[in-house]
Amino acid sequence: MENGNNRSQWKSQAGFLIAAIGSAVGLGNIWRFGYMVHQHGGSAFLIPYFSALIIAGLPIMLLEYGLGHKQKGAPALSFVKIDSRWEWVGWFMTIVAMFGIMLYYSVVIGWCVNYLFYSFDLSWGEDTQAFFFSQFLQLSDSPVNFGGVRIPILFSTLLVWFICWIICFRDISHGIEKACLIFMPLLLVLTLILCGWIFTLDGAPSAIWNNYIKPDFDKISSLVVWRDAFSQIFFTLSLGFGIMITYASYLPKKNDITKNAYITSCVNCLYSLIAGTVVFGTIGFMANTQGVEFSEVIKSGPQLAFTVYPKAISLLPAFNSLFGIMFFLVLVIAGISSGISLIETFTCSFTDKFDWSRRKVVSTICITGFFGSIIFTTRAGLLILDIVDHFITNYGLVCGGILECFIIGWILKATVLRKYINETSSMKIPVIWNILIKYVTPAILLVLIYFTLKSDIVKNYGGYPTDTLIIYGIGWIFLSLIFAVGLSFYPWKPPTKIDRDHEPEEDELLI
Ligand code: PHE
Repeated sequence: MENGNNRSQWKSQAGFLIAAIGSAVGLGNIWRFGYMVHQHGGSAFLIPYFSALIIAGLPIMLLEYGLGHKQKGAPALSFVKIDSRWEWVGWFMTIVAMFGIMLYYSVVIGWCVNYLFYSFDLSWGEDTQAFFFSQFLQLSDSPVNFGGVRIPILFSTLLVWFICWIICFRDISHGIEKACLIFMPLLLVLTLILCGWIFTLDGAPSAIWNNYIKPDFDKISSLVVWRDAFSQIFFTLSLGFGIMITYASYLPKKNDITKNAYITSCVNCLYSLIAGTVVFGTIGFMANTQGVEFSEVIKSGPQLAFTVYPKAISLLPAFNSLFGIMFFLVLVIAGISSGISLIETFTCSFTDKFDWSRRKVVSTICITGFFGSIIFTTRAGLLILDIVDHFITNYGLVCGGILECFIIGWILKATVLRKYINETSSMKIPVIWNILIKYVTPAILLVLIYFTLKSDIVKNYGGYPTDTLIIYGIGWIFLSLIFAVGLSFYPWKPPTKIDRDHEPEEDELLI
């Protein structure tokens, strides 16, 4: 039994923490963070980054941990217990995360699996750009010109869904907890080995200093830098996905919520710093070997992992293949440990609501998910992914975050949750948290949406035709909304599940 009083639980506190860290540490930590640091003033970027962590990241993480622990449910159950009119928000967050992110995230992990195998023989390393775009993806000229499925990508995506299915099929403590207890230490060891390795390479230490660490305080006066810091914190801590609500719902009653939130965010940010060092060291070595400017070769996102990085690996003086295998294994592990957290959130939402068996739900989700992913395995995959990712992360998730602050801050009342968190934590959260959740964090997230919208309209995001953006961007979000509202109309089974444990207390401080 999964529900009600017999709800599954983590076997240990460490198991929960490792799974939460597994969700937070993902591809974004490896190929997004370092580039942002480089672009936005080196170590000076840590000022907006840690400010974003304190002002928005930690408050929302505390909110999600506290809410999941209090309500003992995935987002939909957690919200319906506050007010049945807001159940759809829980479904919206869940659907956006699953069908907006997991469908393409699984394909990207699939690419990493392909590249892991390609690393055994790096003879294609001469022209990595042509290999990635023309041979591997065989990229089409437009997001609406699918050009057929790429079979190697289809198979690796199937493998990724299969691995996720094996892990999620079993109960949380036997599936995700055990998998993460193996994955995360392995991830750390591999990353540390790579980190040690790059310090032996010519040009790496100086590149790390010049392009990654050396602070440029002038840059952080720009608004774009602050916007990027907030969006990175939000994405990297897996906030607004409903994941942390779900994971916290499996915690035993006796717990320390604030300590868990602090540890998760610190480890995640520390991992980003180490991963950035690895990436910048390797690319620095490449720039040094080829005698080119570092800024000419550095890229962000998939381009970094699949074109720049393989080139650098192919130039290594020894053990190139081993380095390549380890790097892509790091990406696969980081990706899968994040992916399973999305599947778990979706699964838990359905087992909560309909009392269906976990195994049936997981199997249905993984099969449907795989079929849904096929669109991203076509020759237009990367182009579609680019649009979906942009809209889902910048609008879908951020809207989820704003709504969640609103529901907790104003409907449940921030004071009620703060009191609950403080009762279960050794480190108490100060009253300023109420102000952050009610006013500051949602206001900042709104400003974030405003800036992105403005630049999207001015630049016509990615230069794509408007109807393409409407189909893949806005359409995707709109469809999620329709499904979310539709699901919220179904009755709960058993209906008593959504009874509130206790009436909300008065918001004694009125802030
Ligand atoms: N924190 C993850 C990252 O940085 C984001 C993520 C979480 C993506 C869960 C997918 C699933 O990559």
